[in-house]
Amino acid sequence: MAIGLQDTLFDLAGRSAIVTGSSRGIGEAIAFRLAQHGANVVINGRKIEPAEDMALRINARQNDGFGKAVAVAGNITKPDDLTALVKQAEAAFGQIDILVANAALHIHVGPSQDMSDAVLAKTLDANFFALHRLSQALLPGMVARGFGRIVNISSVAALFGSGNYHSYTLSKTMALQYIRNIAVEHGAANIRANSVAPGLTRTDMAKSIIDNPALLARELSRSTVGRYGEPEEIAGAVLFLVSAAGGYVNGQTIAVDGGISIRYE
Ligand SMILES: NC(=O)c1ccc[n+]([C@@H]2O[C@H](COP(=O)([O-])OP(=O)(O)OC[C@H]3O[C@@H](n4cnc5c(N)ncnc54)[C@H](OP(=O)(O)O)[C@@H]3O)[C@@H](O)[C@H]2O)c1
Repeated sequence: MAIGLQDTLFDLAGRSAIVTGSSRGIGEAIAFRLAQHGANVVINGRKIEPAEDMALRINARQNDGFGKAVAVAGNITKPDDLTALVKQAEAAFGQIDILVANAALHIHVGPSQDMSDAVLAKTLDANFFALHRLSQALLPGMVARGFGRIVNISSVAALFGSGNYHSYTLSKTMALQYIRNIAVEHGAANIRANSVAPGLTRTDMAKSIIDNPALLARELSRSTVGRYGEPEEIAGAVLFLVSAAGGYVNGQTIAVDGGISIRYE
């Protein structure tokens, strides 16, 4: 599909998106930016109140050209909740064109000897199976309509080995490969599947590092830019991938990490 000079590259009017874990943090920034560019967005989290607050903030901006928002509570580790999430999203907006699998669990830090099957299974449910289950539910419609955009929010941690982050990096790495497979399987049907791998970003999940001077100094010593990232800077990469600007990008992992992943020493 040719894009003419008269066309805008980031217009999402008429598109609808599910962003998991979008009541705060990186997901909130992603949902806000997609809505600002015209997409209808489903705001999700386990708790309904923060999701409803976020939806209200978007719906208050209708005069500024924002898309609409609805809040749907649901736990991404529960298959029934994912089924209900898709059902309610489709009931609200008719069809879903964009999936941003953002919510994740990071529940164990320590040696592999201490990683229980239960921790690994729960982490895989959140960080891999939710992406797979939502993709399975949404892809048939996307393929039939000839348009779909799937973005997996990964982590720069998935690009390295780790002696401490076993379950988190395993699950995040599986999702990277899943995205590559979906990109190959469905690229010709105008589906694009990509991953964004954030480095340390100022959210609740990163609070224990950002609020600890020693841990923060160690993290930033590897950064090429000497600071942590802001949720908006991750949202920008997602906006690029789901809009016309990113139409030729497929199966990639884009690190938004202040250059940590290209630093050798
Ligand atoms: N922040 C970083 O430094 C960083 C770095 C690399 C990668 N990432 C990745 O970026 C993504 C977003 O992280 P974040 O830092 O924005 O996290 P966050 O600030 O902790 O935000 C978490 C969001 O996800 C929701 N959530 C948590 N568990 C959920 C569940 N089981 N089911 C449904 N929703 C759930 C939360 O709402 P409720 O509490 O109501 O459920 C909230 O909306 C994750 O994939 C994370 O791995 C983050």
